[in-house]
Amino acid sequence: MKLPPAGTIEIAPSVLSSDFARLADEVAEVEAAGVKMIHLDVMDGHFVPNITIGPTIIKNLRKYSKLCFDAHLMITDPDKYADRFLEAGVNNLTFHIETTSAPEELIKRIHGAGASAGVTLNPDTLVDSIERVAPLCDMVLVMTVNPGFGAQSLIESAAQKCIRVRQVVGPVIRIEVDGGINKDTVGRVVSYGADTLVAGNAIFAQKDRKAAIKALRAACGLS
Ligand code: DX5
Ligand code: ZN
Repeated sequence: MKLPPAGTIEIAPSVLSSDFARLADEVAEVEAAGVKMIHLDVMDGHFVPNITIGPTIIKNLRKYSKLCFDAHLMITDPDKYADRFLEAGVNNLTFHIETTSAPEELIKRIHGAGASAGVTLNPDTLVDSIERVAPLCDMVLVMTVNPGFGAQSLIESAAQKCIRVRQVVGPVIRIEVDGGINKDTVGRVVSYGADTLVAGNAIFAQKDRKAAIKALRAACGLS
């Protein structure tokens, strides 16, 4: 359930492209296919122009899955809601750097609850803005699309920020990429230093999710 330690490449299916009415079954299907993490997109209709799930659904989902719950908070006020998500059983909690004036405090609270913490960069947000707090985190999430919706195309300039982020954080902090990851882009982002690969459309929009995961792993040179 913990965030896998840095040094391995992990695929994190994003439930955004799943059938939310069958969420537990959808998650069970990718869990059976061997992934260790599931990416849970939390959107408030304010920080991003879309609305998804909150802590109540995550708390219920927790009963049905042993996967590492990687919650990506795309919400205006993570300071106000972080505890609810931590109590719901989230293992890795990621917030956007623009959304808090006290990121160190938030990271401390997340760690205090026994979870790992991630800080997120939007495509237009400079790597400089996370330079101070990234080393306190367990993960940096580099958005490779503008957040809000699945099935968009990867923004190459955003993906290349992984190179600089890797220089800032060194080898022990995970770099996650999110948006437009598929068979054609995954090898490239790994070469830029990403090791945690979120994929929504490339997995949950496919009929055979096991085959989709296998194809992604093969495309980044894994068995
Ligand atoms: C977008 C979300 C992503 C989304 C990625 O704002 O943060 O996690 O599910 O979708 P794909 O993989 O379809 O680009
Ligand atoms: Zn996401």
